[in-house]
Amino acid sequence: DSTQTFYEAVGGEATFHDLTARFYREVAADDILRPLYPEEDLGPAERRLRMFLEQYWGGPRTYSDERGHPRLRMRHHPFTIGPIERDAWLRCMTTAIASIGPDRLDDAHRRALTEYMEMAAQSMVNSPL
Ligand code: HEM
Repeated sequence: DSTQTFYEAVGGEATFHDLTARFYREVAADDILRPLYPEEDLGPAERRLRMFLEQYWGGPRTYSDERGHPRLRMRHHPFTIGPIERDAWLRCMTTAIASIGPDRLDDAHRRALTEYMEMAAQSMVNSPL
């Protein structure tokens, strides 16, 4: 119904869990992205992205409870993110979104999520190359 958040409408915790798990599975196998991650264990990074996305789409506010204001552009400053990294990130995210079935993500929600990811990835670019 109209009082439902996007988070609830697409299946809540389970959907955001599956989305970020699949995303990081792709990152782990990606020769452009994997070297950017400072930690050997991608688990904590996966959890931070999941918490952030859950909060952004109207779910629990655990991200800000633990990390404070997102300031995502600032937090990405240590990493060189040009068009190649942006496209690699989006490729992983597109695969992750595609792995969520239509029972959970209908066309309108899928489109909204995809458009948000494209916008967000572009906004993280901090290098011309
Ligand atoms: C953190 C790379 C875009 C959300 C990180 C980290 C890397 C990274 C290397 C550090 C891993 C860690 O948390 O330990 C990239 C690259 C991007 C990109 C190459 C290409 C455009 C995005 C986008 C979002 C996002 C579009 C949100 C929609 C996050 C969050 C964190 C993070 C929430 C954890 C921030 C914190 O410390 O609390 N990213 N990222 N990233 N990224 Fe990205």
